[in-house]
Amino acid sequence: MSKTAKLIFEGKTYELPVIEGTRDEKALDVSSLRSATGLITFDPGYVSTGSCKSSITFLDGEKGILLYRGIPIETLAEKSHFIETAYLLIYGHLPNRKEMDYFSYHVTRHSMLHESIKNFYDGFPSNPHPMAVCSAVVGALGTFYQDQLNVLDEREIEISIHRLMAKLPTIAAYSYKKSIGQALPYPDNSLSYTANFLKMMFSNPCEEYQVDPTVAKILNILLILHADHEQNCSTSAVRLVGSSRCNLYASVSAGIYALWGPLHGGANQAVIEMLQKIIEDGGGVKKFIDKAKDPNDPFRLVGFGHRVYKNFDPRSKIIKNMAHEILGELNVKESLSKIVKSNIDDELEKLNIEESLFDVALELEEIALKDDYFIERKLYPNVDFYSGIIYQALGIPVNMFPVMFAMGRLPGWIAQWKESQADEDFKIGRPRQIYTGNASAEYIPMEERK
Ligand code: CMC
Repeated sequence: MSKTAKLIFEGKTYELPVIEGTRDEKALDVSSLRSATGLITFDPGYVSTGSCKSSITFLDGEKGILLYRGIPIETLAEKSHFIETAYLLIYGHLPNRKEMDYFSYHVTRHSMLHESIKNFYDGFPSNPHPMAVCSAVVGALGTFYQDQLNVLDEREIEISIHRLMAKLPTIAAYSYKKSIGQALPYPDNSLSYTANFLKMMFSNPCEEYQVDPTVAKILNILLILHADHEQNCSTSAVRLVGSSRCNLYASVSAGIYALWGPLHGGANQAVIEMLQKIIEDGGGVKKFIDKAKDPNDPFRLVGFGHRVYKNFDPRSKIIKNMAHEILGELNVKESLSKIVKSNIDDELEKLNIEESLFDVALELEEIALKDDYFIERKLYPNVDFYSGIIYQALGIPVNMFPVMFAMGRLPGWIAQWKESQADEDFKIGRPRQIYTGNASAEYIPMEERK
């Protein structure tokens, strides 16, 4: 028998159905609450609100579990590659050989941008934040494919998926190239997804460039770790925009903007800036921990805390181990010198900075994890705490970190958008509010206003 919960309001009893997921989470179905009782629910930040049913990603923040379509993130990071994981998220199952080849072929073949799109890059100021550029260009893609934007047409959705997956690395790399005044290269479709991106980022027409396979492999894992995270801020933005039956490009463009903020995907950039500030300040890590604990100081330890994880984020465990490997065993001096051949001294200098950033990060983590303030509030290092250090070791510029997150999150946004469009409960998203303004007010002519 299905469970119900009772609500007693103004002497009347109402029964509300309880719905259950496949991993025992339970939700009170309040969809008929307003029509039955006149009440709405009030939950700023959606702390206790489920916005949809979804079969894509499961996460248990108390136990530190993250599954894509039922498969643990640790397994995918070890055995899968990003394009396979993207297929899994978007289409719901691991692809067989034929499906994998078909998907890979199209995600590769659509990598070039329409030549007119390059003109957009000339219109931005000289050093725009690449997240703004990426969001603008992704949104504008819709103008190039206006006859293929029907959100109810499976084939048109499929083409949009291929185009977005294929073009985002090109769009992202161009935003960097433009900011440093270099020519916009064409993609190289003979390379893997990550190798192609690295080549577009770091090659120039004057020198031969070989992609370091270790760097491409690390990037592949990072993208897998970021590929989906159920109903986070940017994914909810994608779903909400899509709920007006708005096309995939516009919905993903909104997701990129939502991801940009320092409380979400912009945190990886903010972590590096914070670690640099701690080093420059010279006052030691404890000073910043004390600032973060001070209720009168707005400062927060970026890279700590998560709305859902009240335990170690499984992704940060994987990333932390990778950071140890990259900055230690793998001899980063050697791999860095392969990334940018032109100025080894600069790279070695950067390496020293990275090593000290990593040391400061470790010290910060150690002190915070023993501190009652962080223990009581269950504040653990999140995925952004270490990812920035790795991106920097790979030679990715700091303002590109959120873009790396966006490239990783793209299949998740697509999967969630696609699922929402086909949802039998599909409705335009439209929350309600509790109005707290003037109950009524008069219009006062200008001459009589104080
Ligand atoms: N440093 C210091 N105190 C913190 C921090 C922090 N990083 N995070 C939360 N707290 C405190 C907060 O002040 C509050 O204390 P009190 O109960 O005394 O008022 C308590 O912990 C609960 O915080 P909250 O703001 O109610 O928690 P939330 O679930 O609304 O916010 C968060 C989650 C991620 C926005 C927040 O932890 C934060 O601002 N972290 C720093 C930014 C960051 O690292 N963001 C990346 C998130 S993970 C990747 C992603 O989702 O994109």
